[in-house]
Amino acid sequence: VGLQSAATEKLKAKRNLLDKVSNLLTNMLSGGRIGEMPIAEGAVSDLFTRPLFFKLYDWFLELGSVYKLAFGPKSFVVVSDPVVARHILRENAFSYDKGVLADILEPIMGKGLIPADLDTWKQRRRVIAPGFHSSFLEAMIKIFTDCSQRTISKFEKLIEGECHNGATIELDLEAEFSSLALDIIGLGVFNYDFGSVTKESPVIKAVYGTLFEAEHRSTFYIPYWNLPFARWIFPRQRKFHNDLKVINDCLDGLIKNAKDTREEADVEKLQQRDYSSLKDASLLRFLVDMRGADVDDCQLRDDLMTMLIAGHETTAAVLTWAVFLLAQNPSKMRKAQTQVDLVLGKEKLSLDCIKNLEYIRLIIAEALRLYPQPPLLIRRSLQSEKLPGGYKGHQEGYEIPAGTDIFISVYNLHRSPYLWDQPNEFEPERFLRSKTIECIEGWKGFDPSRSSGSLYPNEAMSDFAFLPFGGGPRKCVGDQFALLESTVALALLLQKFDVELKGSPNDVKLVTGATIHTKDGLWCTIKRRTNKE
Ligand code: HEM
Repeated sequence: VGLQSAATEKLKAKRNLLDKVSNLLTNMLSGGRIGEMPIAEGAVSDLFTRPLFFKLYDWFLELGSVYKLAFGPKSFVVVSDPVVARHILRENAFSYDKGVLADILEPIMGKGLIPADLDTWKQRRRVIAPGFHSSFLEAMIKIFTDCSQRTISKFEKLIEGECHNGATIELDLEAEFSSLALDIIGLGVFNYDFGSVTKESPVIKAVYGTLFEAEHRSTFYIPYWNLPFARWIFPRQRKFHNDLKVINDCLDGLIKNAKDTREEADVEKLQQRDYSSLKDASLLRFLVDMRGADVDDCQLRDDLMTMLIAGHETTAAVLTWAVFLLAQNPSKMRKAQTQVDLVLGKEKLSLDCIKNLEYIRLIIAEALRLYPQPPLLIRRSLQSEKLPGGYKGHQEGYEIPAGTDIFISVYNLHRSPYLWDQPNEFEPERFLRSKTIECIEGWKGFDPSRSSGSLYPNEAMSDFAFLPFGGGPRKCVGDQFALLESTVALALLLQKFDVELKGSPNDVKLVTGATIHTKDGLWCTIKRRTNKE
């Protein structure tokens, strides 16, 4: 039986390889058939000299909002058009899969929601999405507050250590936000306290190692790690597999514990959405309790791993860029602090407070507009079809064959001069205004009243011009978790401290993989606020 299953596995691996080769060939052969699409000739050096999304922006201005990017035999269609993005992400979502992204992430996330095939995705999305209901999010606000408070206490202690009034400290805030977001995702998703704000541990190191590898892979569009013996040829691959094992062992322990401690009383509370007296309000508790003991451990582990990776660096990046932008705009920093003082005062932070922190919410949205995480969404067409026409030189729309790899450039959409006034300026108030543009056929324009009750600007109010969490059925499942988390952390930080950049903004160099982050950290000077209302 063992030999038989090994032979079946080998056969499967061969079939996968053949599928990949045939996809590559389809792409190569289809290259010339993508209508009259303008072509950008990319050099391999474009992948290494500066983040690719900068170059994609230049080509967007030069070639229009749908063009083909050719790297030797490999080609991608780059979309920077809200109507075409809406078509791919929402109207015709199931004619696309995650293509290259699934190749990259499947070895890490298995059958987690992001790389999952359609059948698995449908089944798991139905189970996971209800876990993010409003009572869960309200319960999370306490975790967001407690974890932010830990970061604040750490800063206060460092300031006290300076022993004189008005002391300042210098810190890499990107690293601090990364620790904060890791602690929050650990507690919120699987009730595990990484405690990374204050300590190092093998699990924390393994999480960063895995993120590093995921990042590295996402800048390589050829899956070299699938080569036979990759684990033996590349030492980094060996380290990656060791890191993965450390995290998986940790997650397996947490899943076992959640199953062993399942109690009917908790199940009833969860069914009634009563989180007030639950000791463990995590998503894992919900997934185990609501589905009974029959949940497949391997699938659960993939789900948790996916959320750990998807929800950690992304949120840390939003906070990093929000502070970077505020530090360059002291009057906006002052306005934000005034609102925080007014709303929070001595009150405990609650959902009602967040409803009143409008300016902080808009700052988070504006940071996501200027620095979207990830800057590109990746899809592959499963069948040939005609994309809708949009604007700027391709009113007719283009035919694309099955197997076409697509980058939806969220960065281009968010900084499009055709969609936004002064697109590169930091102006949180822009989301309060309506706007229509006649020259884009089929685009409804911006209308804040169309946000479907959301506290934050979203793709609905902008008709797919603002896509911080994607859109359509595969939209981010943790969007509200992330938005509330960032709002709480930023508000509490601004309540206590004044923050300035240590050097010039131009010294902050960008690098990108799955997220846009800094090359050498976001070094800031921090001091206690003296100008409180
Ligand atoms: C998907 C962004 C936080 C879990 C996505 C997508 C985007 C995104 C753009 C869509 C990807 C695509 O269409 O290809 C962000 C940003 C975040 C954030 C900017 C923080 C500011 C989180 C958090 C979690 C999470 C906190 C979980 C706790 C997921 C999952 C998916 C996803 C599971 C896949 C959804 C599906 O395919 O059904 N995220 N995310 N994300 N995100 Fe997030």
